Amino acid sequence: MMITEKLRLDKGSYEESINRAADIIKNGGIVAIPTETVYGLAASCYCDGAIKKVFEAKGRPQDNPLIVHISDIKQLSEIACDIPSLAFECAEKFWPGPFTMVLKRTDKIAKSVSGGLDTVAVRMPDNQVARDIIAKSCPLAAPSANLSGHPSPTTADHVIYDLDGKIDGVVISSDCEVGVESTVISLCGDKPRLLRPGGITVEQLKEVLPDIVVDKAVLSEPQKDEKVASPGMKYKHYAPDTDTYLVEGTAEQFAEFVNSQKDCCAVCFDEESGIINIKKLSYGSIADESSLARNVFSVLRKVDKLGVKKIYIHAPSKSGVGLAVYNRLIRAAAFRVISL
Ligand code: TXA
Ligand code: MG
Repeated sequence: MMITEKLRLDKGSYEESINRAADIIKNGGIVAIPTETVYGLAASCYCDGAIKKVFEAKGRPQDNPLIVHISDIKQLSEIACDIPSLAFECAEKFWPGPFTMVLKRTDKIAKSVSGGLDTVAVRMPDNQVARDIIAKSCPLAAPSANLSGHPSPTTADHVIYDLDGKIDGVVISSDCEVGVESTVISLCGDKPRLLRPGGITVEQLKEVLPDIVVDKAVLSEPQKDEKVASPGMKYKHYAPDTDTYLVEGTAEQFAEFVNSQKDCCAVCFDEESGIINIKKLSYGSIADESSLARNVFSVLRKVDKLGVKKIYIHAPSKSGVGLAVYNRLIRAAAFRVISL
């Protein structure tokens, strides 16, 4: 056990905390930092030893590569090479923001960042604190700052719950506004490919990448030993300890179904909360997919504490940011879907 430094950003301590986080990172340490999507566990992308500590603290499989975070487009050529012009068009449109591109890697970054692949994922976060720390240190390799398998952390408290005593520091900032991790695309194949849906929607991607292909791992369970485009897709993810099911149907069908079940809890929309008469937690408004994205991970953490036997989650639509929420929930439910 080590002591995890809590770096606060109150008036007067902002500069000091940013400098401290940057110093820890420059000295080979690891620090959890806020981004607009989820909190990340950051290490220098040049320091193999620090990156190994990240894998260890999370309990993350070594073959699951990390995203490198930059604060300035000029840093891109340090990280990636043979960059297609489409990548610059995407960067222009979606950075800073919840958008990650997989490109060919350079030899400058540590081997462990890529988990054995010859590619690297890069993004520029839309969060001033994150960018200030990068600017004071270097590009940062950072996965989500949760224990591997747990829901991603959208508050500093989530990070502390999972990683206190296992990492050098945590920057205590506000809750993440997007709430689901970034959209990941690959520009390394013959066609642009969506590997993970996120804050930037398929509809937005199509404006720059009209022929983007949605990888089948986005909505279906990878088969055993199947080679997946994004290693993260094959692992158990976001899963509460309680038995979880994703349920598709109208508000009335969902309410009727859960009301007849025993020893369970419903995760529902604000609009239908009134017609559900068992234990329930709402994760936002069905009319506002971004509210579902913002709340989904903290609700998955809460629901696990209720001591029920089963969790039934009302599935969102797959349009807009709803696709990203659906993608996380179907994993939380280990691909068990009940269609009413
Ligand atoms: O919003 C986010 O992306 C957050 C914040 C902290 O930036 N980060 C995040 O990192 O979600 P992580 O490690 O939890 O997820 C990264 C995903 C994984 O599914 C991983 O397999 C994939 O990106 N990935 C990373 N490098 C890749 C590569 N070279 N090729 C294919 N997939 C890659
Ligand atoms: Mg993660």
